[in-house]
Parts: sequence; C-alpha cells; structure tokens
Amino acid sequence: MNLSVRDADVAELMDDPDCDPRRLAATLRRFDTVNRLISGWGAAYRSQLRPYLASLGAPARILDIGSGGGDLVLRLASLAARDGFDVRWVGVDPDPRAIAVARERTTSGVEFQCADAAALAAAGERFDVVVSNHVLHHLSAGELAVFAEQSLALSEGIVVHSDIRRSRLAYGLYTIGVTPFAPGTFLRTDGLRSIRRSYRVDELALALGDGWRVEAAAPYRVLAVGRADG
Ligand SMILES: C[S@@+](CC[C@H](N)C(=O)[O-])C[C@H]1O[C@@H](n2cnc3c(N)ncnc32)[C@H](O)[C@@H]1O
Repeated sequence: MNLSVRDADVAELMDDPDCDPRRLAATLRRFDTVNRLISGWGAAYRSQLRPYLASLGAPARILDIGSGGGDLVLRLASLAARDGFDVRWVGVDPDPRAIAVARERTTSGVEFQCADAAALAAAGERFDVVVSNHVLHHLSAGELAVFAEQSLALSEGIVVHSDIRRSRLAYGLYTIGVTPFAPGTFLRTDGLRSIRRSYRVDELALALGDGWRVEAAAPYRVLAVGRADG
C-alpha cells in the first residue's frame, strides 16, 4: 500500500447511502470502542477543552459536528462533569441513521439533532466550543473549506477538529488491531480507507489555510485548532 500520497478518491462504505443499514448501525455503535482506543480525545480534552472551560468560568455549550453514534459527546461530557464543569452538549449529524444510533445513548444534558453546520448557522446557533472527530478526511477539498469556515462561525471560543494522521505504521497496526472488533461492521474496510484518505500535518495545514494551528498528536493523530477571534 502506497501511503506517501493521500488517496482522496477511495470511497468509504458507510458514505454510500445504500449501504447495509444493519452493518452501518453496528459500525456506529462500535465506534465507541474504536474511538476510546485510537481517537486520543482524553489527551485532546486535557490539552484543549479543559483549559478553555476553566478559563471560561461559566456554564458552556459544546457542539460535536458529525457526531456519528454519539459516543464522543458522552465521553467528553463525562470527563467535563468529573472536572466539575457545567456543560450542555449538542451532537449533530446530517445522516439520520447516525442520529438514530446516537439517540439510543441520549442522557441528561446531551442532545442529538439531525442537522449540518449550515442549518445551525442559519438558526443563529453559537457554541463556546466546537469539536469534530474523524470528519475532515471524509470531505472533498471544497467541503473541507466550507466545514472549517462554518465550524469557526459556530464557535464563540475554540474549535478542535481531530482526525487520523496517515502513516504506514498506523495502517499496519490498525490492520491487526481492528480484527476483534470488525465482524458485522464496516470497521476494517472503512478504517483502512480512512487512513488512506487522512492527512499528514503539513497537508492539512495547507488545506485549511490561515487561521488554523495544525499539530501532530500521539499516537497517529492530527489536531486542527482554531479560535473564533482568530
Ligand atoms: C467516520 S464518521 C465519524 C463519526 C463520529 N464523529 C466518530 O468519531 O465516531 C463521519 C461522520 O461525519 C458525518 N459527516 C459527513 N459529512 C459531514 C458534514 N459535512 N458535516 C457534518 N457531518 C458530516 C457523517 O454523517 C458521519 O456520521
């Protein structure tokens, strides 16, 4: 597998509107385990969200765009609650099949809506923090520019987009590590295609342009951090 060049043409099975709905739902439910193992959001919470919430010193609203099965919202909500922060959480996803899975997990202070960033912006919504996980690599170049701009417009504070950082080692480790979690899901095929579609730090910095700080996060992660006051 040649990973020296980003493969923006390979399509993920879950992005097919006609994909098997049972496998899609199983995939969305199992993102919970995969995200806990690989997404690095514990560290991103400690380095980005926690200091910002502490500096705010007031109740906050946080948005996760492209929330999928909703597990990241619940995980961050639990981390923030443990630190004593008063936060209301909103997860949005344009795919109603994802929202149906996320709503299985709705809990107090957490809401899931079938919407995209443009709909929220049109409704005049603003949040203190906007995050996303594993969305950037799904988007075309044009979609990425719009998504980045809309995420900044929806935030009064910080924006943190987290995604996979493409590397041969990540590809090799995922190939082996996903085996116990893959049956009945798209996790093997889509995870490997995601790595092929994902960015290196310099590539994402170039694609996002000014106004974003793009950094490597361990292991095999890239973080794009923006500020509303930029
Ligand atoms: C790989 S899933 C990631 C889901 C979840 N964030 C996670 O980490 O498990 C990508 C999600 O992004 C959503 N998505 C795709 N394009 C989007 C867009 N332009 N705006 C918001 N969400 C989008 C898809 O519907 C899908 O649920």
